[in-house]
Amino acid sequence: MTDLNQLELDLINAIGAADSVTGLEDIRVAALGKSGSISGLLKGLGAMSPDERREQGPLINGLRDRVGAALSAKKAGLEAAELDARLLAERIDLTLPARPRRKGGVHPTMQAMDEIIAIFAEMGFAVAEGPDIEDDFHNFTALNFPPKHPARELHDTFFLKADPETGERKVLRTHTSPVQVRTMMSEKPPIRIIAPGRTFRKDSDATHTPMFHQVEGLVIDRAIHMGHLKWTLETFVARYFELSGVHARFRPHHFPFTEPSAEMDIRCDRSGGSLKLNEGDDWMEILGCGMVHPNVLRNCGLDPDEWQGFAFGMGVDRLAMLKYGITDLRPMFEADTRWLAHYGFSPFVAPNAASGLS
Ligand code: DAH
Repeated sequence: MTDLNQLELDLINAIGAADSVTGLEDIRVAALGKSGSISGLLKGLGAMSPDERREQGPLINGLRDRVGAALSAKKAGLEAAELDARLLAERIDLTLPARPRRKGGVHPTMQAMDEIIAIFAEMGFAVAEGPDIEDDFHNFTALNFPPKHPARELHDTFFLKADPETGERKVLRTHTSPVQVRTMMSEKPPIRIIAPGRTFRKDSDATHTPMFHQVEGLVIDRAIHMGHLKWTLETFVARYFELSGVHARFRPHHFPFTEPSAEMDIRCDRSGGSLKLNEGDDWMEILGCGMVHPNVLRNCGLDPDEWQGFAFGMGVDRLAMLKYGITDLRPMFEADTRWLAHYGFSPFVAPNAASGLS
């Protein structure tokens, strides 16, 4: 006969000493499993005489119940301890700074805009603004556009419906130059402004979008000449492209609102599939500029014998593409967050002249 007391003592000791859930399970199987010691005793009841069974049955069942209860209690304790150990090992420090996966970001056009503003702000230019919906006077007439100029044609410019009373047709401004007119008419010279903003033309192909961005510049003072224009723009372009100087040329051009007018090109090398600025034998157009036409000064109430000035205008989307190696214009306007995650800039690092532009 098995000594039930001894068996119970051994099992309870083993359970008490178990230090893992798997070790405890081995003990359970050895006692209560199919061929376990207690299961064997229970099976043996069948072969006993009714008197023996009446005596042994409650003893063996009692043993089984107490061992079972000890196993459950120990198991709960071991599981709680294992969970505590895991929680300790897998602890994360919530006070550590987060590393968010950036989905959006500052659009390269807006980044370029902020950079351009930072550079001109350092040179003493203020930012001026005007409306996207302009009238003919500010967008064309005051800027010395002749009545039959092609920019006034329906196929180039977005015109709004005519006002039923006056017949006037407003336009979505085709350039930021009307801000020159608004500034000259509302402020006294000397004037030194840049005007960033949205502009609109009926153009849509690989290199043109119906809406794009420009920055206009205007300086009005006494005795202003082309040398001031040249220095200002060369300094700007060098700063913008983060070069120590630029190889630029001013190629004669025509704009109705400037005389003389020029386009500024910088030297570049397009060989080998990539674009290198400031080297090579090619030229790349960067912006339009010129001396403010005397008619424009007069149209804005300034005496051209007293005040002179220079002006310039540049396409911001294109300048962003050139600086940041963006080859296709159209995704710039598609609001695809994957594109923005790749080309966008952190909103927490605003460009400024002291800490670096980009
Ligand atoms: N308004 C011109 C354009 O949209 C750009 C421009 C050229 C502006 C010369 C100027 C300037 O102020 O002087 O193409």
